[in-house]
Amino acid sequence: MDHSNYVIDQMISAKSIAARVEELAVEIGTHFADTDKLIVVGLLRGSFVFIADLVRELDLPCEVDFLETSSYGDGMKSSREVRILKDLRGEIEGRDILVVEDIVDTGHTLKHVINLLQTRNPSRLEVCALLDKPSRREVDVKATWTGFEIPDEFVVGYGIDYAQRNRNLDHIGAVRFLDK
Ligand code: IMP
Ligand code: MG
Repeated sequence: MDHSNYVIDQMISAKSIAARVEELAVEIGTHFADTDKLIVVGLLRGSFVFIADLVRELDLPCEVDFLETSSYGDGMKSSREVRILKDLRGEIEGRDILVVEDIVDTGHTLKHVINLLQTRNPSRLEVCALLDKPSRREVDVKATWTGFEIPDEFVVGYGIDYAQRNRNLDHIGAVRFLDK
């Protein structure tokens, strides 16, 4: 993969993300205030930074588990076919579940994950997505809480990659390709 033909334009600063994560944690904390059986489920790998910040702002007892779905591979197009690469370690029957996703794009991934987890009979299942690109949606699905709605641009940073790079950026940036 050639990483020399693009630049990254800042779209959402680290400070704005931190402020929004605090707000989301308050809303989620209020929603789940009455439970002591919450499991926060991060979708790997893109949500690893977001879930780390979110659970530290969350004033609730909770467990953390991870699920890995197949991704875009090394490209920028959605495969539409979602596969589970790594399943949860724990049982979720009767538990309250908060799925944490990096981006809802076409919606196929989230829809698939929700349908799968619902078959395991959790008592509640909600979703928090950091980013949403509503203009790209192909299936009808929406997160309970969304950090930011963004336009149809390919973004990286704060856990999100392009060809496995740039996950370590502290902000969200848009990838802009340069003419050769
Ligand atoms: P969906 O199934 O099309 O909704 O895609 C969701 C997944 O695609 C997200 O969890 C991301 O991992 C990945 N994705 C979607 N948009 C972007 C992007 O702009 N940059 C990097 N990854 C993306
Ligand atoms: Mg993802």
